[in-house]
Amino acid sequence: MNRIILTLGCLALAVPLAARPVYEKQDPPRELTEEQAARAAANYQKYCTLCHGADREGYANDHAPSLRSKSLFESGVPHSILRPLSYGREGTAMAGYLDEVGGPMNLDEVWDLTYWLFWQSGAERVRLTENPVEGDITRGEAVFEQHCTGCHGKNGEGVNAPALANPSALAHNKDEFIRYAIVNGRDGTPMQSFDGILSEQDIDNVTAFIRSKARDFNEQKTVLKTLPTPDQYVVNPQGEDPDFTLTDDMYVSSADLHQALQAKNRMILLDTRVPSVWQRAHIEGSIPFPYYSDLDDKLADLPKDVQIVGYCSCPRAATEHVIRQLRDKGYTKTAVLWEGIFGWMNLGYPVTRAEGISDKDEDEAAH
Ligand code: HEC
Ligand code: HEC
Repeated sequence: MNRIILTLGCLALAVPLAARPVYEKQDPPRELTEEQAARAAANYQKYCTLCHGADREGYANDHAPSLRSKSLFESGVPHSILRPLSYGREGTAMAGYLDEVGGPMNLDEVWDLTYWLFWQSGAERVRLTENPVEGDITRGEAVFEQHCTGCHGKNGEGVNAPALANPSALAHNKDEFIRYAIVNGRDGTPMQSFDGILSEQDIDNVTAFIRSKARDFNEQKTVLKTLPTPDQYVVNPQGEDPDFTLTDDMYVSSADLHQALQAKNRMILLDTRVPSVWQRAHIEGSIPFPYYSDLDDKLADLPKDVQIVGYCSCPRAATEHVIRQLRDKGYTKTAVLWEGIFGWMNLGYPVTRAEGISDKDEDEAAH
């Protein structure tokens, strides 16, 4: 008996476990007026439920994270919420919603939605320093491989959890925000607390490893393109109709779509993402037709006799949502691009990009 206790004692000495770092509390942000709160709630319902769920629980589509975890709002308000919401996470299904980059919300609305999410979560804000977390990157990589790759991917590209090596995430999140998530986990999600599982030093090491994946990143406020007008909706208006064989009566493959475009077939391509990401890169000839569109406003301009193909980056959730509604309205010649636009790009098919956005930027991000 004594021997066992002794051995355990030695182990504990050899690997000192972290005392959970103490974080000082910070004053809460401003409260919303009733009117601001009502508008934020409505914006949440309209724009966010598709992926983050009706109750902010996350995982409705595309592994979108929880937006109710206290740990996120303790450490993330405002900028780790405001920035992904405004500018998106390049190369993931999370698009930018701020009007400045082509999204549907103005600056007041994105701030109010950030604070509304905070107040919904019931979190108390903590103060995080701006200081970098110092650690041994090589050791951090080994820790990452052992404990993190199963969910976050070998290179932090994200499997069923956020892409930790994502360049825009790393530009938006300070080191202490990352460390806070590792120490505290994200309550109510598969992300457990590593406090007591990893030593304090290894938590710093793995934080430093994640940080080492960052690279130069600009918000790329490009000059916005004018959106296509209804007379420009049909691609190859003089061409023949494509003859797609749809899988599950719904999906067309990138190869078949590419072939039909090469054959100059007549089609309408709907980009069902937030228009800010259409601004960055899209399949040539596509029109922004975001998943939150009010269809009754749009249908007058959409002919029923032309083949429609929709695509998004989720890779299909937003498009299926739109195509099902169109079918209910009698649009039978409709299909969803199976691989989504990231799959399309990874297969080497072309997209039109905004000025200043290189192939490398998007492709690296689109893992
Ligand atoms: C098409 C799906 C989709 C929609 C719609 C969407 N998101 Fe996201 N969101 C994601 C995904 C996926 C991620 C995680 C990306 C990553 O880092 O891998 C994410 C990440 C985030 C993050 C970062 C969270 C964190 O833990 O770092 C915030 C904040 C966020 N979304 C807020 C919103 C809000 C607010 C809306 C509505 C205005 C919204 N999202 C709409 C898919 C979506
Ligand atoms: C069982 C799967 C799983 C494992 C293992 C795991 N994570 Fe996570 N992690 C997640 C999920 C899921 C989320 C998103 C939770 C949410 O919904 O907010 C997350 C979130 C995070 C975040 C916050 C990201 C953000 O933008 O808010 C960080 C940082 C993180 N994990 C780091 C790690 C590290 C480092 C390890 C290894 C020591 C690790 N995780 C192991 C599933 C996992």
